[in-house]
Amino acid sequence: MANKALYESKEIVKSYSVYRPHYSQQIADHVLDELKKASPSKTTFDLMVEVGCGSGQATNLFAPYFNKVLATDISEEQIKSARQRSEFKHVSYDIGKAEKINAKDGSVDLLLAAEAAHWFNLKEFYSEASRIIKPNGCLALIGYGCPKIKPSVNKMNAEDASSLATSLLDESLLEIAGEDKPVCLETGSKYSGICAEIPSTKINRFSVKQAYDWSLTYLRGFYHSIGIYQKHMKKIREELQAQSGNPSAEDDRSIDVAEVFVEKLKRKLDLASLNDDDIKITAEFEVFIIVAHSLSQIG
Ligand SMILES: C[S@@+](CC[C@H](N)C(=O)[O-])C[C@H]1O[C@@H](n2cnc3c(N)ncnc32)[C@H](O)[C@@H]1O
Repeated sequence: MANKALYESKEIVKSYSVYRPHYSQQIADHVLDELKKASPSKTTFDLMVEVGCGSGQATNLFAPYFNKVLATDISEEQIKSARQRSEFKHVSYDIGKAEKINAKDGSVDLLLAAEAAHWFNLKEFYSEASRIIKPNGCLALIGYGCPKIKPSVNKMNAEDASSLATSLLDESLLEIAGEDKPVCLETGSKYSGICAEIPSTKINRFSVKQAYDWSLTYLRGFYHSIGIYQKHMKKIREELQAQSGNPSAEDDRSIDVAEVFVEKLKRKLDLASLNDDDIKITAEFEVFIIVAHSLSQIG
């Protein structure tokens, strides 16, 4: 399911690096504990390879625990962005596919994919994983679905406001997902299908909640960082252009599904008179972590 185009534009890469969540230390600790359990005598690890590294959200968190890190992504723009944010000299960034990894057989302590495996051709990715991971090494998949949105409102019960806002966001994204709907559902199910295909019988799962204090403006920025949003907008802008030439700024705003979502949310919460910056919300992400040991050889 390689989807290069989704994260290739400068616009999405900029939004991605600003608005996507970073991962907490607790998340790295779960994965590192699993690695240490498999090799109790080790205090440091040789090599981590990360695929689909994006702008390096997970790379910088895990890098201190490895002597060498190779972080790759199919998108050239994401790799440029990750290089700019790089915090460590022993990390190298390269354009590369999760389905063809530039690492020797049995050389990798940790193969990591954060919020990315749902885009991979899993058969080919798992075949590469079983080829390159050391016998005591691990595969770690990290992911999150749509956040739970908790708006701060006076006129409504907090639980009702939260369930209304959360379902509006879920529904809005599913509506525009088109052919990528199975991908959205997979993250929503915490990788139930992706996990079932891992060639291992030794898999452990963890979950960590991360909450952020945002404004409605920030929530709009998060919406802009979603690949299916950028893909949807590109498609409808092209259709509109083919019909009636370049859309005006006003037309563009009226077809912008992020604006439609924001306006609908304000209306339903009875907050239409407030500025987006003044509408405070908490976004709670449930980050799931899947660690697989002893992958069996494929092919
Ligand atoms: C949602 S972003 C995740 C980025 C980052 N790891 C994070 O945790 O936020 C998914 C990334 O996977 C990359 N990607 C998609 N398909 C890929 C593939 N087949 N091989 C490598 N990278 C891929 C995209 O370019 C994108 O940067």
